[in-house]
Amino acid sequence: MIERVLPPGVASAWTARDPEVRLFPEETARIEGAVPSRRREFATGRHLARTALARLGVPAAPIPTGDRGQPLWPDGLTGSITHCKGYRAAAAARRDRFRAIGIDAEVHLPLHDSLIGTVLLPEEQADLARLAGEHPGLHWPAIAFSAKESLYKAWFTLTERWLGFHDARLRFDTVHGVGGSFTADIRVSAQTIGGTRVPPFAGNWHTDGSVIVTAVTAE
Ligand SMILES: CC(C)(COP(=O)(O)OP(=O)(O)OC[C@H]1O[C@@H](n2cnc3c(N)ncnc32)[C@H](O)[C@@H]1OP(=O)(O)O)[C@@H](O)C(=O)NCCC(=O)NCCS
Repeated sequence: MIERVLPPGVASAWTARDPEVRLFPEETARIEGAVPSRRREFATGRHLARTALARLGVPAAPIPTGDRGQPLWPDGLTGSITHCKGYRAAAAARRDRFRAIGIDAEVHLPLHDSLIGTVLLPEEQADLARLAGEHPGLHWPAIAFSAKESLYKAWFTLTERWLGFHDARLRFDTVHGVGGSFTADIRVSAQTIGGTRVPPFAGNWHTDGSVIVTAVTAE
């Protein structure tokens, strides 16, 4: 599904299972002491990232982890990794084409009531209630949650700053069946990072009914 939410120029790979994977020494430090399931999902993410990079013609290279959990991509490249129950994916692009990418996968289940107010602005809740009326059978708050996780990964790649759930206002522009597009209006005072205006963030979502995937890119 991941390829359905990514624009041309972004390479991707996904799997439903964890293959046997050998990590680079620079990568293993991150998961030493982690439980086996976490070691497996981490290794699969690196494997998929290298598969996506290979589709761009990039030879296998280490992808260590930064101090805020972000993957550190080889020079001139960017990308994103996600894993949820039954689905793992990675996406990668050349930085002269995309400045940042964020991808996220979530199980397509209702977002817990206790999270609604934490994740969604009141105006987003109103939009999603309307969308749920027009397009029933989809867990709209869970789709919005995933969209915000993707947004955070792209935002952090670009700015190396925190972004809270209420710091961005999502708008779901188009809906076609089980997918569509959205834009994000970032509501933080510093719209300028290092002299460069933060670009608009646009994304896509899709679900097969079991898993939601979302992606955000910044050019
Ligand atoms: C970091 C976060 C987005 C990860 O999302 P998640 O749904 O829990 O987990 P996923 O499996 O989808 O993603 C995990 C991957 O994200 C990547 N990641 C972690 N921190 C990251 C960061 N700061 N920037 C970019 N990517 C990051 C890593 O590749 C990680 O996998 P790995 O450790 O195996 O390499 C989430 O835990 C978080 O902190 N969210 C709060 C911030 C937020 O979402 N704000 C909303 C703004 S509107």
